[in-house]
Amino acid sequence: MGFVVAPHHCHLLLGGAFLFILVSSALSCPARCECSAQTKSVSCHRKRLPSIPEGVPIETRTLDLSKNKLVLEPGCFHSNLALRSLNFRSNQLKMVLKGVLSGLTNLTHLDLSHNGLVILMDHAFQDLHRLTFLEVANNQLVYITPRAFVGLTGIQRLNLERSNLTEVPTDALSHLHNLVELRMRFLSIAFLKPFSFKRLSRLRHLEIDFWPLLETLPPLSLHGLNLTTLFITNTNLSAFPGAALRNLPYLTHLNLSYCLLLDSLCFSLFPASQR
Ligand SMILES: *[C@@H]1O[C@H](CO)[C@@H](O)[C@H](O)[C@H]1NC(C)=O
Ligand SMILES: *[C@@H]1O[C@H](CO)[C@@H](O)[C@H](O)[C@H]1NC(C)=O
Ligand SMILES: *[C@@H]1O[C@H](CO)[C@@H](O)[C@H](O)[C@H]1NC(C)=O
Ligand SMILES: *[C@@H]1O[C@H](CO)[C@@H](O)[C@H](O)[C@H]1NC(C)=O
Ligand SMILES: *[C@@H]1O[C@H](CO)[C@@H](O)[C@H](O)[C@H]1NC(C)=O
Repeated sequence: MGFVVAPHHCHLLLGGAFLFILVSSALSCPARCECSAQTKSVSCHRKRLPSIPEGVPIETRTLDLSKNKLVLEPGCFHSNLALRSLNFRSNQLKMVLKGVLSGLTNLTHLDLSHNGLVILMDHAFQDLHRLTFLEVANNQLVYITPRAFVGLTGIQRLNLERSNLTEVPTDALSHLHNLVELRMRFLSIAFLKPFSFKRLSRLRHLEIDFWPLLETLPPLSLHGLNLTTLFITNTNLSAFPGAALRNLPYLTHLNLSYCLLLDSLCFSLFPASQR
């Protein structure tokens, strides 16, 4: 229902009459992909595509390119500026070059998880002002440059879990003024510096679970935050981080399960009304 599958690759149409090209562009669908005109979506999930397919209709809002062998090439989305959601999960991305996502000003969801990203460079996402959700979990990130997140003024949720980061990318995160939820699970970060999460005044939910190397939460490490939910589970904390938690007056959910604290101190605290 609603699927229009054109057998031709757009190049094959070049010899045809101009009118035919105009008519077929509204109905086109890249080879091996499935398109729905009704929902303006194109799915090329798990098609072993070696490169980003041509012929994605310009009005497409949802594009699923997950589970292929793709990288982001310069100009690859220049005719798809109406995109709202781009799923690039499970590909072979190592870098997001400045400009490859430029012009995607209506994009709200971007999934780059399960790729081989090692570094996020300055201005990688600079035009994505409406992006609300960025997923970069399950990469091999070792470094996020201080200006990598410039322009992401609308972002509310960020997932950075399962990467090779060895410190919190404080300066990069400080550009995300509207961030509400930050997930940073499964990281080999051993220390939290003072003001690690500076300028994230809207942040309410922070998850720093599965940091086996983390032994202390220094007094000013969370300073500046106004959290309601904090998960610090499966760490190597050996003392209750009372000083670090002191300036969080609205904290209602605290989960400190599975740490090295004396068993009686390892707990999760949820108000009865929220159960
Ligand atoms: C972005 O969304 C706005 C409002 O929904 C729309 O008017 C505009 O045409 C869209 N931009 C592109 C490039 O599709
Ligand atoms: C990331 O960590 C994994 C597991 O320790 C390792 O195999 C991989 O080489 C690391 N990648 C980088 C870019 O450091
Ligand atoms: C956790 O702390 C204990 C005691 O200080 C130490 O022996 C152990 O090596 C630590 N574990 C990790 C993963 O660092
Ligand atoms: C802190 O968060 C609470 C609960 O979300 C909110 O009511 C309050 O206005 C916030 N305070 C500041 C200074 O942002
Ligand atoms: C606290 O965290 C642990 C470990 O992640 C989880 O198993 C448990 O369900 C959490 N407790 C609550 C009340 O959410």
